[in-house]
Amino acid sequence: MAMLFEPLTLRETTFRNRLWVSPMCQFMCNDFDGMPGSWHIMNAGSYAAGGAGLVMMESTGVSADGRITIRCPGIWNDEQQGAWATVVDLVHQLGAVAGIQLNHAGRKASGYANGTSLAIEDGGWETMGPTANKVDGMRVPRVMDQTDIDRVVKDFGIAAARSVKAGFDVIELHAAHGYLIHQFLSPLSNERTDEYGGSLENRARFLLDIVREVRSNVPESTVLFVRLSASDWAEGGVTPEDIAVVSTWAEKLGADLFDISSGGLIKNVFISSTPGYQVGFSETVKREGVKTAAVGKILDPQQAEDILQEGKADAVFLGRKLINDPHFPLRAAHELGVEVDYTPGPHRMGYWD
Ligand SMILES: Cc1cc2nc3c(=O)[nH]c(=O)nc-3n(C[C@H](O)[C@H](O)[C@H](O)COP(=O)(O)O)c2cc1C
Repeated sequence: MAMLFEPLTLRETTFRNRLWVSPMCQFMCNDFDGMPGSWHIMNAGSYAAGGAGLVMMESTGVSADGRITIRCPGIWNDEQQGAWATVVDLVHQLGAVAGIQLNHAGRKASGYANGTSLAIEDGGWETMGPTANKVDGMRVPRVMDQTDIDRVVKDFGIAAARSVKAGFDVIELHAAHGYLIHQFLSPLSNERTDEYGGSLENRARFLLDIVREVRSNVPESTVLFVRLSASDWAEGGVTPEDIAVVSTWAEKLGADLFDISSGGLIKNVFISSTPGYQVGFSETVKREGVKTAAVGKILDPQQAEDILQEGKADAVFLGRKLINDPHFPLRAAHELGVEVDYTPGPHRMGYWD
């Protein structure tokens, strides 16, 4: 039996396999109200029908000002919560686990998909961050004071509680790709001299406060992931070793698995993105004794299987491969000689045996 198709149980949730849908922004909230709609139902449903074990929803704002763009979804009000429940229902009907990635974009909020700032007169907003340093092409963020920090921590907790009410089994905190939590974690974007800046322990404080707040707002059964960038691909940035230590701290507070990515903090750095280019980071973090998932140019079934067999991750997230082929998990099962019983539609009904 291929490890890729061995079920995995975290808390009370069993994933039918370890081939998971990586969170991917859709920019499809056309009324700019953070509401997931028919696109989101179709998109998540197609991945669940394709056999993925987990469908992780895209970066979702814990507050309106935390969205990456005005076309990104949110989960800060009842209407959004209800709309997500419809998406979750379909994913569950199709046998997959449903996850939501919660995010505050910080200095990278109020952008266009191409990473420039959306003008205030076009519906954009002032942004905030740990320090008043900006991303190239975007506006300078306001420095967050303690009130701002407390508000965002609380917003994550409230959004997590709403996610549970919407039916999500897994909550993932987006602490990667240069968004607010990552901005606190990296010395390249955090020049604070208070208890949120300086040492690794201080830079991790914001993340750990959020982990604590989220755990205290969700049931024991809710599975909690953290996505982390293990490298900024720039001198003086976060290192895989730092991120491994932070993961162990977060695990002690109730995080279950670390989804190890990289980059996103600094524009135009060189990333040699060959197949599996981030797997080594997952391996470094996993060596500390925590569960991890690997992501990044995982492109074929045997490559994914080898990552698990070699103990470099407990699961894999796939992004672009699944955009091209939402049925990739079912194809992967076939290629690895595994029979799965979750092919949806007429096949399962026995019409074409
Ligand atoms: C269209 C698109 C949107 C993305 N949006 C998100 C996102 O919302 N949150 C996130 O953590 N990563 C996001 N990513 C990164 C992917 O989740 C994934 O980590 C990355 O694409 C590398 O995996 P891949 O080589 O399998 O595509 C996005 C990637 C793509 C291609």
